[in-house]
Amino acid sequence: MADIGTTYLGLKLKNPLVAASCTLTEHDDSILKLEDAGIGAVVLRSMFEEEITAGVSGMYSELAYTETAFAMEYLRADLPALLGPEAYLNRLAAIKKRVRIPLIASCNCLKKTQWVSYAQKIEQAGADALELNLYRMPLDATEKSANVEERDLDTVRTVAESVKIPVAVKLSPYYTALIPFAFALQQAGVKGLVLFNRFLQTDIDIDRQRFFYRPDFTTPDALPLQLRWTAVLRNILRTDLAVSGGIHSGRELIKSLLVGANVGYICSALYQNQDHKALISGILATLTEWMETKAYADLGAFRGKLRETDLTDGEGFERNQYTKRGNGEEIPGDGYLPRQGI
Ligand SMILES: Cc1cc2nc3c(=O)[nH]c(=O)nc-3n(C[C@H](O)[C@H](O)[C@H](O)COP(=O)(O)O)c2cc1C
Repeated sequence: MADIGTTYLGLKLKNPLVAASCTLTEHDDSILKLEDAGIGAVVLRSMFEEEITAGVSGMYSELAYTETAFAMEYLRADLPALLGPEAYLNRLAAIKKRVRIPLIASCNCLKKTQWVSYAQKIEQAGADALELNLYRMPLDATEKSANVEERDLDTVRTVAESVKIPVAVKLSPYYTALIPFAFALQQAGVKGLVLFNRFLQTDIDIDRQRFFYRPDFTTPDALPLQLRWTAVLRNILRTDLAVSGGIHSGRELIKSLLVGANVGYICSALYQNQDHKALISGILATLTEWMETKAYADLGAFRGKLRETDLTDGEGFERNQYTKRGNGEEIPGDGYLPRQGI
């Protein structure tokens, strides 16, 4: 049988499927269910700095997204738990005692001192690794983008130096120059990058003329953005890479591994399919069967096989355009453009 074991951030995982940070990864009962269903590792729901927590609590009370009652139930049930670091740290320590799979904590802060202080507390509480949920909207109209990035880098560097556990950074896709920023994160001591985060979206109720907030659930159509950047960064970085966004079945997980990801995260799929055991075992079975069909003994036999290999020939991920290919061939009407591959 094909070996689907892997490493991520220096941790040993029995398979490359990781539950992404969300409200389903906050409480021990749902995390134990994910472990029982066969998940390789779990990223805990992010711990937000108090100011953000207060804002998020207010927003969540406004939630009015009726189509996904299951998710909303979790979000509302979540409110009392947003009480600050102690509640999070106690929960983390308690969960850590009950699960065998790696537990990756996640936090999002505003002030550098808080990032460092939370990171150290998270380490003490027993997390196996820490994911920095790096999101802050730069609102100063006079601040240069290089300065915004330098500030984030300085924070990440300080956090990475202040803990012994491996540190990953979860990025958004909205950087002007992602490659140099990702490279600088690696130089700052980051062991893994998660591509990408998606944020709670603001929508408008035109009847009440009010804002409301809803989680941005994906479909597999969201995957190509992550594939492109993973493929390009895989050639440039030594850090581990995790694809987050659009993994709903074994097919998306295989694609992520083919472009060089160490692991694939799932989140929306967990909300959309409540039978986590069937979902997770189905994804892993698809991966195993596909590997056996292709005679791949382990993930290393094909990981990164379709990463970007030539940044200049116009055939790769970095030069995808609705235009003629280099050899003059038009993109056919059915949109299926065969490319070199396996
Ligand atoms: C309800 C919900 C809550 C989330 N909470 C967090 C969070 O606390 N921290 C974080 O880094 N990402 C959070 N995310 C983003 C997910 O971890 C994930 O990156 C995103 O949903 C894309 O993956 P998917 O296509 O598998 O859903 C959340 C997503 C959803 C839908």
